[in-house]
Formats: sequence, structure tokens, C-alpha cells
Amino acid sequence: MKTLNLPQIIQGGMGIAVSDWKLAKAVAKTGQLGVVSGTAIENVMIRRLQNGDNQTLKALLNFPIKSIAETIIKKYYLADGKKEAQPYRLAPLASIPLKNELSDLLIAANFCEVFLAKEAGGKVGINYLEKISMPLLPALYGAMLAGVDAVLMGAGIPVAIPGVLDQLSQGEPCRLAIPVTGATKGQEYFQEFDPKEYSWESPLKRPAFLAIISSEIVAKTLIKRAAGSIEGFIIESHHAGGHNAPPRKVKGQAIHAFSSKDSVDLERFKKLNYPFWLAGSYAKQNALEDALSLGANGIQVGSAFAYCEESGIDASIRAQVIEENHKHNLDIYTDFKASPTGYPFKIIKQTWNSKTSPTERRRVCDLGYLREANLNDNGEIEYRCPAESTKNYLAKGGNLEDTQGRQCLCNSLLATVGLGQVRKDFVEPPLLTAGEDFSFLSRLTENKKNYTAVDVIDMLKQGWLK
Ligand SMILES: Cc1cc2nc3c(=O)[nH]c(=O)nc-3n(C[C@H](O)[C@H](O)[C@H](O)COP(=O)(O)O)c2cc1C
Repeated sequence: MKTLNLPQIIQGGMGIAVSDWKLAKAVAKTGQLGVVSGTAIENVMIRRLQNGDNQTLKALLNFPIKSIAETIIKKYYLADGKKEAQPYRLAPLASIPLKNELSDLLIAANFCEVFLAKEAGGKVGINYLEKISMPLLPALYGAMLAGVDAVLMGAGIPVAIPGVLDQLSQGEPCRLAIPVTGATKGQEYFQEFDPKEYSWESPLKRPAFLAIISSEIVAKTLIKRAAGSIEGFIIESHHAGGHNAPPRKVKGQAIHAFSSKDSVDLERFKKLNYPFWLAGSYAKQNALEDALSLGANGIQVGSAFAYCEESGIDASIRAQVIEENHKHNLDIYTDFKASPTGYPFKIIKQTWNSKTSPTERRRVCDLGYLREANLNDNGEIEYRCPAESTKNYLAKGGNLEDTQGRQCLCNSLLATVGLGQVRKDFVEPPLLTAGEDFSFLSRLTENKKNYTAVDVIDMLKQGWLK
């Protein structure tokens, strides 16, 4: 069995900016693993700067590549914050290759998030989705410049990433294959990144790589095919908040349903001899103890941290969720259509929100994280997202069926953390996700309106018995 010096409790990475540096810092301080989300973090960083956020400014002033920090501050920082009615300036959209300006923003933003999370000591990881592969190389480099301790990645099979971490830590150039729909066999597309073009001077710490998986077959594939070492696995069930792995096909059953086939065979997994953490409804009574007795190193918990005081979710939205939860059980369901990734996504039904419903919002695509690259008839790369304007999506060769029920996760999730874009004709609607088990919330808010990350950790460690 491989050994790994990471704590029992992992606070799951939650994008966009739900597990921000404040939450990860609060968790890391207690000796558990705090995890920031690297997803869309460059747009988060520049929106914070446009709001006059001094913590982000401080982090940038500590960024080792001074010329990049100066350019970003000059372009985006507004000491008094932008005017309320003023829309946020946007980062360039990801493409193959990335624009230099975007690479610089990615390195800086990932650095800042990890730098701030590590300020009170302890171990800090960063979470990415393999599906959002275009920005990954500079993002990983930025996180490593800040000394990130672990990289956690799911939503795909990240075979190339362990090797990339080795190369980045040694200051070697690296590349990452990017899927392009319509490309023929042998026609491959890559993002390339050379740390020597930046400030690389000495070896950077190589973070532990933890793959988030939902099947032992994927774990086996990763172990067999990964270009570098994998230090451990998070086994995440389909009860977890955020995206879930798509259900496996069962004869005679709709593809839009989970079955017993979607559970990991733990006994088989354990034969692989890797450290693992269990995730998905592990904030229940005695869950940590149960996981340990099954041979796990510990648990990864998301939802219980997502609604605590230090979470990035807008304070008024959190308060509303806690209030509604006192009145009635919240309706948390798996939406198989909402996410443009095509992966199932857990949603809390907001019966109380009378503003724009996410399915009614005008289909503007200006963040583009979930755009896929595809070749047009002229052999040029185009980018399309099934949640963008249906007309544009169809013009780029997309299918009408793929657009139905899709929601703009990029804009909605930014609205959830209080950084929604300002529009003339509608308010960006927040989108709330949580795992199926929400029973921790009543327990944590029994006699109070709020709770902290430390309350969550105490509850998990005490198994609720106190
Ligand atoms: C608000 C929210 C956002 C999430 N975002 C991500 C993400 O960006 N990447 C990821 O790998 N997992 C994400 N997750 C999953 C968590 O990291 C964690 O594995 C999961 O929440 C565990 O299940 P639980 O919610 O029952 O505790 C998210 C979960 C929540 C609740």
C-alpha cells in the first residue's frame, strides 16, 4: 500500500469559488485538507479586483512574476470598486492555443487563490475538472508557484496530468491533448506550456495527485495509463453535490437513472492498494468512523462546507437556504440535462427565488468554460456550448436536442458567489447545488442561524455523539 501524508478530512473542491481561499484557509488551519477550486478562478480574480478587493491585491503583490502582476492590477483593480450598474470586464475566452493574456491571468489567479488559502498554515489542495482542459497547464503552474500540496481532479479521466505535474515541477515544457470534435484520426490538437518562459528558477514542489473517480475501472485505467504517479483516489458516489459521473448503461433502464452498477466495488478497488477517501453523503452520523473501518484514509465532504460561514456562496443566499431548511425539507434532485458537460448535476430547487429562472435567462455565452472545440467545414476550430444561443449553436453544427434544458453554469455559478455579471435586461440567476444528504444542516443550525467550517469538522470528528 502506498502511504500518503494527508489528513482524514478533505473539504471537497467546489466551483465556482464556493470553496474559495477563505474556506480552504479555515479548514487547513485545523490540520485537515482545505481545497480551493481552480475553475474559472481568473474571472473570479478580476471581478474581485473590480470590486476593489484588497486581499486579492495583496496576493498579487506577492506574485513572483512582477510584470504580470503590475499589468493585471493596472487593468482590473478599482480601489473604490466599480459602479453597481457597470458590467464586469471579462478575461479572454479559452482557445487553442491560449492567448498570452489569458495564460498570464491563469497563472496569477491560481497562484493568488492558493497563496491566500495557505496564509494561516496547513495543507491546501486545488480542484479542477478534467473536462475543462484548455486552461489547465498555466493554471496548474500558478498553483504550484504558490506551493499547492495536492491537485484533485475528476469529471473525466485525467491520465496526462500526473506527468504534467512532474514536468512543471522540473521546469520542463509540457503539452496536453485537447479533444476536438470532428478531428480525424491522427489529427491531434495540444495546448503547450513552457515554464522557462516565465519565472522558473528552481524545482517546484510536485503536489500529490488525487483522482476523483466513481468506478474502480476508471481507477485501474488511470493507474495503467497515467504518465506520472497517482498518490490516491477520492471515490465519489452519485449522492454527492455538484456534477456526478454519468450512469452506466443497464439493459432496459433509462440512461437518466442511477443503478447499483454505479457504485464502486470497494473490495476490488482495495486490491489496487492505493490510499482512498470516500465522498458523497459522508457528513452523516458516524460516517468518518464507518469510512475508516472500510479501509479508507478518510472522507471528502462538500455540501456541509458549502453552506458554512466561510463558504464563497453569497451570504444572503446561504441565509435563505438555512431559513428554508428550517421550514421544510429542501428538494434536491439530479438534473440530467442542465449541465452543458452532459454530466448529471445535483440541483437544489429554489422554490423561493422569484427572479429569472435559469432556464428562462437569455442565452448569452461570454465565459465559455464548457465550450467544446469542433472543426468546421473549412477545417478551422470553432467553439460551441449547448447552453449558448440556440441559433449560434446550430450554426456551428450542434444538434437542437443537445440545447434543450441546458443551463449556463458559468454565469449562474458566478451569480451564486455574488459575482454575477450585470445585464441590462435580466438578473443572472444563481444556481444551487448540494448532495442528496442535507440532514447535517438542521443539526448544525439547531440553535443558531449560522455555522462555521470548524463546526463541520467537529461534527465529523465527533460522529455527532456529543
Ligand atoms: C456547491 C458544490 C460545488 C461542487 N463543485 C465541485 C467541483 O467544482 N469539482 C469537484 O470535483 N467536485 C465538486 N463538488 C463535489 C465536492 O467536491 C464533494 O466531492 C461532494 O460535495 C461530496 O459529497 P457531499 O456533497 O454529499 O458532501 C461540489 C459540491 C458542491 C456541494
